[in-house]
Amino acid sequence: MEDVTKASVARMYDYLLGGTDNYESDWAACEELLRVAPSTQQIALINRQFLVRAVKYIAGTGEVDQYIDHGSGLPTQNNVHQVAQRADSGARVVYVDNDPIVLAHGRMMLEENPNTTVIEADMLQTKQIFERAEKLKLYKPGRPTAALFVSVLHCIRDDDDARQMVRRVVRELPSGSYIVLCHLASDDAQLRDDVTALMQRVTGDKWGRVRSFEEVERFFEGLDVVGELCDVSRWRPDSDLAPRQEPTEWVEYGGVARIP
Ligand SMILES: C[S@@+](CC[C@H](N)C(=O)[O-])C[C@H]1O[C@@H](n2cnc3c(N)ncnc32)[C@H](O)[C@@H]1O
Repeated sequence: MEDVTKASVARMYDYLLGGTDNYESDWAACEELLRVAPSTQQIALINRQFLVRAVKYIAGTGEVDQYIDHGSGLPTQNNVHQVAQRADSGARVVYVDNDPIVLAHGRMMLEENPNTTVIEADMLQTKQIFERAEKLKLYKPGRPTAALFVSVLHCIRDDDDARQMVRRVVRELPSGSYIVLCHLASDDAQLRDDVTALMQRVTGDKWGRVRSFEEVERFFEGLDVVGELCDVSRWRPDSDLAPRQEPTEWVEYGGVARIP
């Protein structure tokens, strides 16, 4: 059951992207966050554009026909299945989110699409997620897969939990699979602490923490990075790209990597 008296990350993100599935608690939390980190709305838009470019890139390789999107958020424009299925109409997409509002809205949107589903689960439950996806015939073990962790790992406070989850997914997937990962990062320790405290308070402790650039880079250890890790507004820029993020007190940092 949805508690709308506390802000939720999914609804706040929806508000920042201009969506309508959000409430007063979310608006108030976003306004407070924007006072501390004014670039946050621009980051949300930039993040979404990165996700679309990354999926377009992976779909364009023709190497991958299944996607697992961890912490997928509320449906918006250019969702993963829409981008992937433009390149390959048979592409299978599993969305995973632990916010019930995502399940409710996602189901409505996906009813007509047999190759796509939304699973309500904590993304830390890797084994259960892959088993459910396999049962639904939307994930075939042993086939190259793209696993997405786009703007979600900062919802997990414990470093070992976050790192081990990514490792488990990398171990599950065969060589030639892709990881798409970006994370709110800053080299300003005060800002990291301020935003972390604010977000934990407004969401009722359902948030993790902002990490440093080095901490984000560690998620990519052992993987073959495609291009470079960067402020994602600079990742493989294309003509759809909005202006670069400015100011840059924090950024979404990360990129795309291939499992060797
Ligand atoms: C900032 S949104 C990102 C949405 C999407 N990945 C994107 O980049 O457009 C973060 C999402 O992660 C979800 N989330 C947070 N913690 C989670 C967890 N432990 N398991 C599953 N989903 C989680 C939230 O509910 C929210 O929808």
